[in-house]
Amino acid sequence: MHLCFATQNRHKLQEIQALLPAGVSLVTPAELGCMEELPETQHTLEGNSAQKADYLFENYNIDCFADDTGLEIEALHGAPGVFSAMYAGKEKNAEANMRLVLENLHNCKNRKARFRTVITLILNGRKEVFEGILEGEILGKPKGSHGFGYDPIFIPKGFTQTLAEMTMQEKNQISHRSLAFKQLREFLAPIVS
Ligand code: IMP
Repeated sequence: MHLCFATQNRHKLQEIQALLPAGVSLVTPAELGCMEELPETQHTLEGNSAQKADYLFENYNIDCFADDTGLEIEALHGAPGVFSAMYAGKEKNAEANMRLVLENLHNCKNRKARFRTVITLILNGRKEVFEGILEGEILGKPKGSHGFGYDPIFIPKGFTQTLAEMTMQEKNQISHRSLAFKQLREFLAPIVS
């Protein structure tokens, strides 16, 4: 089965390919001739992942899926959420994003936060949605040098290290993204076997 994954990032595609059942072969939008940026103008993770998948299905008539991830902080009413990549500006600078989160949480006792990944799959014209959540807390200052994005200021519930102090393998065992893609894999497995 060919499935288009709504990413232009080859590295990400290979990573996800390795997680999916052997009968699933991923293609990029570029391989379908889609060179334009996929639209992502909605105000929720669900909306954005659906918008990207809808765009591929409507314009290229192919089975496909798209994902969207955000950091949701309770005391900030769910921000940065869908705006996680550009929280501090269009430059998508991870350091600036973390600084802004820490500033906005200054003197705030409630540090509860979660990462949430939403995947929208369109298969034979039918839509399925999968979600992965990693609960945790925002630290007072960054710690660790692995990972990306907000990893240095996020400690998963039940752990003492930030995501940036964990190895990639350790993070992958618990991450929001892994949980969401595990559900996608489990959904696809009986269909392609
Ligand atoms: P995307 O939807 O996977 O592109 O994620 C959007 C933004 O959320 C990223 O640019 C990061 O700022 C943040 N983010 C997503 N996943 C993670 C993660 O695993 N660790 C830290 N930050 C993340």
